[in-house]
Amino acid sequence: MSRSAKEWSSPQNALAYLNVADTLPHRSEGESVMIDHLPEDTKRILDLGTGDGRLIRLIKANRPEIEAVAIDVSPTMLRSAREHFANDSKVKIIEHDLSQPLPDDLGYFDAVVSSFAIHHLKHERKRELYEEIYDIVNPTGVFCNLEHVASPSVELHVRFLNAIGYSPEKEDRANRLLPMEIQLGWLRDTGFVEVDCYWKWLEMALLIGYKA
Ligand SMILES: C[S@@+](CC[C@H](N)C(=O)[O-])C[C@H]1O[C@@H](n2cnc3c(N)ncnc32)[C@H](O)[C@@H]1O
Repeated sequence: MSRSAKEWSSPQNALAYLNVADTLPHRSEGESVMIDHLPEDTKRILDLGTGDGRLIRLIKANRPEIEAVAIDVSPTMLRSAREHFANDSKVKIIEHDLSQPLPDDLGYFDAVVSSFAIHHLKHERKRELYEEIYDIVNPTGVFCNLEHVASPSVELHVRFLNAIGYSPEKEDRANRLLPMEIQLGWLRDTGFVEVDCYWKWLEMALLIGYKA
């Protein structure tokens, strides 16, 4: 089991995140910009590191007909997501460790989305995952990653932690933060176009790339 899978398999860690998820400052701004950039005719989405399915619920709030596939590794998160979507046959929840290649029977998606999950993976795995995502995005589709990225200085990192009610001592040990610019470069190298940071507040950044 990967380090991130192990960390997030702890019910305490998963529940601690779920208890503060709504209080993270500015996150709703990033989520809202992400939703604005989903293609109009989105029919099928994949959410990587779905947690309790927060992003899928937000997306489906206005587009309930969308079909969604949700991936996570944490039993606590998977249980919570399954409860949320117990009455929605259009949401499929899959247990999978993202440190391993994506399952090859997922199919294709109009949008692959993720929020605050991929930064738990090793840097080389992040890059591989971006390539795997490119292969399963439809020709008119998009990849949207609302991500926890690295600060350019220790001072700004501590400022971010303080702003979200954390300190270096309380910081999530499973984080593997990487500068946004490096990840934008990887997305361009992978073949995504119109790649940019579409929203940012301190270490929270929305990275988007279109297939064409
Ligand atoms: C900070 S939470 C974010 C959850 C959700 N996307 C949200 O925005 O509320 C990070 C999520 O990534 C998942 N995760 C971490 N490492 C993972 C891995 N190796 N494979 C699959 N999921 C992973 C965790 O279980 C957790 O649900």
